[in-house]
Amino acid sequence: MNTLELARKRCSIRQYSDLPVEKDKLEYILEVARLAPSACNRQPWRFLIVTSEEGREKLHRTYAREWIKPVPLFIVICGDHEQSWKRPADGKDHLDTDAGIVMEHICLAAAEKDLGTCIICHFDAALLSVELNLPGSVEPVAIIPVGYPADPELFVKTAKMRKPMNEILVTF
Ligand SMILES: Cc1cc2nc3c(=O)[nH]c(=O)nc-3n(C[C@H](O)[C@H](O)[C@H](O)COP(=O)(O)O)c2cc1C
Repeated sequence: MNTLELARKRCSIRQYSDLPVEKDKLEYILEVARLAPSACNRQPWRFLIVTSEEGREKLHRTYAREWIKPVPLFIVICGDHEQSWKRPADGKDHLDTDAGIVMEHICLAAAEKDLGTCIICHFDAALLSVELNLPGSVEPVAIIPVGYPADPELFVKTAKMRKPMNEILVTF
């Protein structure tokens, strides 16, 4: 599968089976994540793997949606503001940029292995920091459910709604 095919296949899956994620597939996804680029190569991320009932309940308290209940595994992407690169000219913190890249590495690698994902940011961040006992400089940036779609056809059925090229491309 080439990059374009993989980008077309990946989509936000919001219907999951409770089938467990195989260890070798998780290791593959995490290795793809580890290789992601980051500003000044700071790699300010930490990945929290949540599979326990208790951990999954904690996540559900911060993002109370029925559809995440069967998900067997979550990767919580955290970023450490003490490690992220700040642009000297204006102080811009590149943590979110780095986290965004690593998140998409994870989602593409998972899709390659027929695993569904969905980047989730609409959670209660303050509560999640408490639930996960995160130190002050560490921010939970996203929760990524990882699991087999309830229907494998979801990969092809989920419509890709995108702006046309002429709306997003500027050449000068
Ligand atoms: C930064 C970011 C945050 C997102 N947060 C949520 C979320 O909280 N809940 C959700 O259901 N989807 C969330 N999404 C998924 C987007 O809605 C989805 O990527 C977008 O509609 C495009 O659809 P696709 O992923 O199927 O291509 C998020 C995506 C991104 C990139």
